[in-house]
Amino acid sequence: MDFQLNEEQLAVKEAARDFAQQELKPGVIERDNKMIFPTEQVRKMGELGFLGMMVSPEYGGGGMDTMSYVLAMEEISKVDNSCSVIMSVNNSLICWGIEKFGSEAQKRKYLPKLTSGEWIGSFCLSEPEAGSDATSQTTTAIDMGDHYLLNGTKNWITNGTTSAVHLVVAQSNVELKHKGINVLIVEADSEGIALGAKEDKLGIRSSDTCSIMYNNVKVPKENRIGDDGFGFKFAMKVLSGGRIGIAAQALGIAAGSYELALAYSHERNAFGKPINQHQAIAFKLADMATDIEAARLLVYRSAWMKDQGMNFDLSSSMAKLAASDAAMKHSVEAVQIHGGYGFVKEYHVERLMRDAKITQIYEGTSEIQKVVISRSVIKGETQVQLSGNKLQKA
Ligand code: CAA
Repeated sequence: MDFQLNEEQLAVKEAARDFAQQELKPGVIERDNKMIFPTEQVRKMGELGFLGMMVSPEYGGGGMDTMSYVLAMEEISKVDNSCSVIMSVNNSLICWGIEKFGSEAQKRKYLPKLTSGEWIGSFCLSEPEAGSDATSQTTTAIDMGDHYLLNGTKNWITNGTTSAVHLVVAQSNVELKHKGINVLIVEADSEGIALGAKEDKLGIRSSDTCSIMYNNVKVPKENRIGDDGFGFKFAMKVLSGGRIGIAAQALGIAAGSYELALAYSHERNAFGKPINQHQAIAFKLADMATDIEAARLLVYRSAWMKDQGMNFDLSSSMAKLAASDAAMKHSVEAVQIHGGYGFVKEYHVERLMRDAKITQIYEGTSEIQKVVISRSVIKGETQVQLSGNKLQKA
């Protein structure tokens, strides 16, 4: 087993760290306070290649492995989780989905703009009454011959007001249940699309989230991804990859909180010595370091499995479950170590604590991850998936 990162991966990690510290950190508190979308920062992420990292250079991407993507996500998420969720959705759900399952024409038309940051994408699965229960889609895409007629409402859409491209999950044949679901590439300027108000959220406040209403929107037939009825499998597969991205985000929140708490514990004195010389704080740091390292191993291993062409459904759910729990638990601990200072915005840890919560909710709640994991475990698949058996292809 090789736990060493290669030169290219180390260079990506360093570039992402520098970008996060130098370009994202200075304005992050104000953007979060005022819910300002990070337009300039997203433009720079596009320029630096962070928005289409795994896409082949042929379509304008960086041609990197999932491991490099995870390292970049981790570094950026230590600082700005509004930027990192925009990055995660665009890389894992939109670009990866189109490159892996889209037609050649779809790849040529959409990927260069999505990887450069000229456009960003949104993944439109959730509905007012269908979040975890993803097969219960009420949005319909009726086959009209040369186009689909799209009707329905999507909720909680990340990048909702800013995306140029929506991947919309919709039901084309109710009788077939999930086998009648399709995913359509919908251009945001199509006639019949209306946007709801930007949600005022607990965390990731400068990323935009809104509902999207589709009213008799005509979508060309060639914008369907894959064969008729492939949409649910598409959604499940890209969400498995998306969960690696969100797990990396959660890992970044946990690690960023820990780094801030550790630095503060050296600077702050109480009872005549640095607070980390008191066992109450030292043991917290030990727990943080251990849990974060355990989560990191799960996240990196899942990325590695994806890069090997192995099935990563189980490992990505485990990574997301563990990393999001570590993010929540240890961002709270980081606030505690900072005491009163942790409760004010200037010290950054309260924002990381607010941002942590969504990682236990989006791209499959922690409860959904346990559904996926327990089903695999009960079927006895765990050993096969985690033993490095290359025969089990994605
Ligand atoms: N890959 C490929 N196919 C898969 C799959 C996977 N990972 N998981 C399931 N499937 C297939 C199954 O094989 C089955 O196909 P067949 O009928 O042909 O055998 C089909 O999909 C239905 O599967 P299930 O019977 O397991 O379906 P279910 O109703 O029991 O649901 C679930 C499974 C795991 C709970 C699923 O509904 C799920 O993941 N729900 C959570 C949805 C989610 O993550 N939402 C997040 C919203 S997006 C978001 O947050 C993005 C953002 O903006 C940040």
